[in-house]
Amino acid sequence: MTDKDHIVPIALIDRPYDIFVGHALIERAGVMLQQRFGPARYGIVTDENVAKAQLPRLTAGLDAAGLGYEVIVVPPGEATKSYQYLITVVEGLLAARLERRDLVIAFGGGVVGDLAGLAASVTRRGMDFVQMPTSLLAQVDSSVGGKTGINTPFGKNLFGAFHQPRLVLADLDVYQTLPEREFRAGYAEVVKYGLIDDEAYFNWLEEKRSEIFAAGPARAEAIARACAAKARFVLADEKEAGLRSLLNLGHTFGHALEKATGYSRRLIHGEGVAIGMVLAQQFSVKLGLCPSQDAVRVTRHLQLAGLPTAIADIPGETPSLETLMAAIAQDKKVERGALTFILTRGIGRSFVEKGVDADAVGAFLKDILAQ
Ligand SMILES: NC(=O)c1ccc[n+]([C@@H]2O[C@H](COP(=O)([O-])OP(=O)(O)OC[C@H]3O[C@@H](n4cnc5c(N)ncnc54)[C@H](O)[C@@H]3O)[C@@H](O)[C@H]2O)c1
Ligand SMILES: [Zn+2]
Repeated sequence: MTDKDHIVPIALIDRPYDIFVGHALIERAGVMLQQRFGPARYGIVTDENVAKAQLPRLTAGLDAAGLGYEVIVVPPGEATKSYQYLITVVEGLLAARLERRDLVIAFGGGVVGDLAGLAASVTRRGMDFVQMPTSLLAQVDSSVGGKTGINTPFGKNLFGAFHQPRLVLADLDVYQTLPEREFRAGYAEVVKYGLIDDEAYFNWLEEKRSEIFAAGPARAEAIARACAAKARFVLADEKEAGLRSLLNLGHTFGHALEKATGYSRRLIHGEGVAIGMVLAQQFSVKLGLCPSQDAVRVTRHLQLAGLPTAIADIPGETPSLETLMAAIAQDKKVERGALTFILTRGIGRSFVEKGVDADAVGAFLKDILAQ
C-alpha cells in the first residue's frame, strides 16, 4: 500500500519534513518511526474518544516494531486546551522518563495536536514530535504549519509556540470512526483553500464532492491538495506576518458566531467557518467586489456538503447584531473604526483588506439578520 501514499514535502529550510496521506499509516507507524528515529521511545498523547476508537491500531504497530511508549489520555473537547492539561501532559512525559531524543506523538484531532505540540515544545526545553491527526480538520489544517497552543481566559490560542513536527502521518482509515458532523466541519476548511486562491481546486471539489464524502480515491487527493495549499502559505510566511492571514477567510464572521453561541456544540468551528465564508462572499458582493453568482455557487456547494450556510441555520436563538459586532470588534483590533477582513473578488480571488469600515459591517449584518 505504501506506493499509494500521497507525500507532501514541507520544505522549511531548517526543519524540512513530510506529510504522508494514505491508508493504514497508523499500523505502519511503528516501522516508519523506527526507520526514521531508531530506538527512540514515544509519549503518545491522545483523547478518550480517539484512545477508544483508534489507539489499539497504533500500539499494535509500535509493539510489532519493538518500540517503547507511554500513553497520556486527556478528555476530549476544546476545554482540554488549558493550562491544567498542559501540566498533565508535560508531567506525564516527565514521569514516563522520556528524554530529549525521544518523541511525542500527537494522536487525535486539533485539540490534541495543539496541546501535545505545545507540551513537546517546552518539555526538556523542546522535544521532537510527530503529528498523527485523526480528524479531517486536523489533517488539512491544524497539523500543518507548526502552530501549537492552548486557550486562556483572555482568548483562544493565546498561550502557544511555533513548533514544527518531524513527521505528519494522516491516515485515511481514521474516518471509519470520526463522527460525520466532524467530517463535514473539516470539509469547510478544505473548501476554504479553493476559495482563497485556487479556483481550479474549487471546481474539482464541486466535481468530486460525492466521491470525497463516499471515501473514494478523491478523498486522499483532496486532503493531500489541501495540505499542500496550507503548506504553501506557511512556507511563504512561516510566522504569520502577511500572506498567511488569507487562511482566516471566513474566520472573522465564523469566530464571532462561535463566540455568540458560547463555543458550544450548537456550532462547531468548521460550521462557523462555512457560514463565515458565505458571509464574506456576500459582504464582498455588497461592496461591489464579487459577482453574486460566485457567492451562490459557494453557498450551494457547502449546502450539498451538509454544512450550514446562514446564521438562520444555527439551531436555537439567533445571535443579536450587538453580540456579533462586539465579538468582531474584540476578535480584530479596530483601528479608527476600521477592521481587517479577508474579502474576495470571486472564487479563488481572496485578498486582505485592512480598511473595512466597522459601520459597513454592521449595516451588512443588520440586513442579513433581518432576512
Ligand atoms: N494549530 C493550528 O494551526 C490550528 C488550525 C486550525 C484549528 N486548530 C485547533 O484545532 C482544534 C479543533 O480541532 P478538531 O476539529 O480536530 O477538534 P477535536 O480535536 O476536538 O476533535 C473533534 C472531535 O472528534 C473526536 N475525534 C477525533 N478524531 C476521531 C476519530 N478518528 N474517531 C473518533 N472520534 C474522533 C475528538 O475526540 C473530538 O470529540 C481547535 O482547538 C482549533 O483551535 C489549530
Ligand atoms: Zn479554521
